[in-house]
Amino acid sequence: MKKTVLVSGGAGFIGSHVTVELIEAGYDVVVADNFSNCDHTCFEGVKKITGREDIPLVEMDFCDAAAVKKIFRDYPIDAVIHFAAYKAVGESVEKPLMYYKNNLLSFMNVLEAAQEKGNFNVLFSSSATVYGEPDKVPVTEKTPRKPAISPYGNTKTMCEDILQDTVKASHGSVKGILLRYFNPIGAHPSALIGELPRGVPNNLVPFITQTAIGKRECLSIFGDDYPTPDGTGLRDFIDVVDLAKAHVFAVTRMLEGKMKKDCEIFNIGTGTPLSVMELVKAFEKVNGVKVNYRIAPRRPGDIIAIWADPTLANEEMGWKATRSIEETLAAAWAWEKHLAGK
Ligand code: WQD
Repeated sequence: MKKTVLVSGGAGFIGSHVTVELIEAGYDVVVADNFSNCDHTCFEGVKKITGREDIPLVEMDFCDAAAVKKIFRDYPIDAVIHFAAYKAVGESVEKPLMYYKNNLLSFMNVLEAAQEKGNFNVLFSSSATVYGEPDKVPVTEKTPRKPAISPYGNTKTMCEDILQDTVKASHGSVKGILLRYFNPIGAHPSALIGELPRGVPNNLVPFITQTAIGKRECLSIFGDDYPTPDGTGLRDFIDVVDLAKAHVFAVTRMLEGKMKKDCEIFNIGTGTPLSVMELVKAFEKVNGVKVNYRIAPRRPGDIIAIWADPTLANEEMGWKATRSIEETLAAAWAWEKHLAGK
């Protein structure tokens, strides 16, 4: 029998890519979103890519407990992938309560509904932010978490704990997987879905593509005096399609009863670090465009260097990142051009 997966925040950047991969893997998907940080562009793109006009879309807020219970009643869902959350680090420093309330309450509502339903699987989108500035790189799942620097980061750490405690208390009735993403970038090769930042982008790649297309004058490279080979920060940039596929592996693992523990954690990264400068240069080379940039002071709160040891995900889940940085950056550029109507 076909299994059904609920994707909360399924109309956003990562959620829309995950929806595509789930459908292509043969799952039925219910998309739920309150459109607080996206419009219908990606959902329409998902329908085009998959050729499926009938994907159920529920406009709802996961902070509304009654609405969460209703969607669990209305659809025969076997698992939920929970993305619905605010994600701007800087904004979370200014509006901590908004972040704690939204990100914690929405997830607790999902867990409560999962617990009530029983025999249920929950996949939570966590982040490498839980490792803070690691003492040793690459980081494995056993690398200790560090106190979060921002309320946003803290919501990820807290939601990880909330899921683990809930799984433990349910004695096998609720199972969970935490995926810790490194730096998701890129877009679907069709250029029909991608990242749609509101206002000035915080993240590197949308800032690069917007500068290259002329929407922004100049990219600031935050710091070139870090203790790294070229002085700029080191990250593990993971293609969003590869990342999306990791969700399919994780959901399948849960639904096929292949988990080794009731709550599992996986790093989702490439295992290869790339510097901010190397990324800018690679973008210019593969796309044949210039990115106007300048060196700016370090950005407060930035980590110097972090990348994943993805061995566990590779060996245990059978998932591995396959897309090259060139393919990824070409897709990011194609998406920006698609948005500009070029
Ligand atoms: C990457 C590198 C910057 C912008 C953040 C969150 C994390 C996760 C992903 C998501 C850094 C440099 C950036 C720019 C730059 N959360 N940079 N100029 O900070 O690694 O991770 O996003 O929802 O929790 O903290 O990603 O893309 O912002 O930065 O030089 O204009 O690029 O300093 O070294 P980060 P990022």
